[in-house]
Amino acid sequence: MKVRKAVIPAAGYGTRFLPATKSQPKEMLPIIDKPTIQFIVEEAVAAGIEEILIITNHQKASIENHFDRSFELEYFLQKNNKTEELKIIQRISSLANIHSVRQKEQKGLGHAILCAKTFVGNEPFAVLLGDDVVVSKVPAIKQLCDQYEQTKSSIVGVQQVELQNVSKYGIVSPIHELSDQFRLTEINSMIEKPAIEQAPSRLAVLGRYVLDPHIFSLLENQTPGSGGEIQLTDAIKRLMPKRKVFAYQFEGRRYDVGNKLGYLEATVDFALNRDDLKEDFFQLLKEKVYRND
Ligand code: UTP
Repeated sequence: MKVRKAVIPAAGYGTRFLPATKSQPKEMLPIIDKPTIQFIVEEAVAAGIEEILIITNHQKASIENHFDRSFELEYFLQKNNKTEELKIIQRISSLANIHSVRQKEQKGLGHAILCAKTFVGNEPFAVLLGDDVVVSKVPAIKQLCDQYEQTKSSIVGVQQVELQNVSKYGIVSPIHELSDQFRLTEINSMIEKPAIEQAPSRLAVLGRYVLDPHIFSLLENQTPGSGGEIQLTDAIKRLMPKRKVFAYQFEGRRYDVGNKLGYLEATVDFALNRDDLKEDFFQLLKEKVYRND
C-alpha cells in the first residue's frame, strides 16, 4: 500500500527557543524568510503525500493560518502589482490538503502521534518532525516511503551521530552494519536518549518515520518513559516482537534546527545557497570573520 498520509507533530513547547516561543510556535521560526514547518510540508508534498495532519495546541493558530488562504493579503498584493509575492502566498495554501488537530496536554511525542489515530485510520503513514530539516536530492521521507514499498514494514530514518551526542536521540540497535552501499537493516531494539555506555550504536533516529497503524494500539497503553513523556520510541520498541521494524540511513544533509547552533548553521547555509543573497551575504560573513580575527 502506498503511503498517502503524513503527520507533523508541532505541539511541543519549544523550550530551547524561549522566550521567542513564549507566544509563537517554534515551527514558525523562519530560516531566512520561510517558516521551518513549510520546509517540512514541502518535503512531504515532494514525496507524493496527499493528506497532511499537523498536531498543534491552542497557541499554534498561526501554523493553521499560514497554510490557509489570506484573501485580504492577496487582494493587497494584487492591487499593488506585487505579482511575485502574490504567487508565493497563493502557492502555500495550495500545497496539499492540510488538516490540524490539537493535542490538549503536552504528554510527549508518542501521545502527539496518538492524536492522529482517526486521521490515519488503517494505513501506513509518514511522520516528519520539524526539528530536522533535510536537504537532499530525493526528499528524505520519500526515501523511507520507497523502502516501505519493498519491506511493507515500519521504517525509522537514521544517520550516524557523534558518540558524545547519542543521549540527545532515539538510538537503534541494527542487525546489520550500515554503509553508503547498504542503507537498510532490520533493527531489534531502540532506546530513547541513552547514556553513552548504554547506546547500542551511533545510529540516531532523525525525525523521519513510516509507521504501521498497529502503533496506535501500543501508544494507547504506553506508559511514560524518558523525561516522564509518552515516547514514540518506546511504542516502536514494543512493536518489534509483533512486526518487523527497519532502519534506513537516508541520504541528505540534515540540520538540527531545534537547537540554536543548528538553527544558525541552517540559516547561514541556506543564505549561501540563495541566488538573491549569496554574494552579499558571503561578503558580510568575510568582513565579520576578518574583524574578529
Ligand atoms: P521536542 O522535544 O524536540 O520539541 O519534540 P519541543 O518539546 O517542542 O522542544 P524543546 O525540546 O522543549 O525545545 C519533538 C517533536 O515532537 C513534538 C514537538 O513539537 C516536536 O516537533 N511534540 C513534543 C508534540 O507535538 N507534543 C508533545 O507533547 C511533545
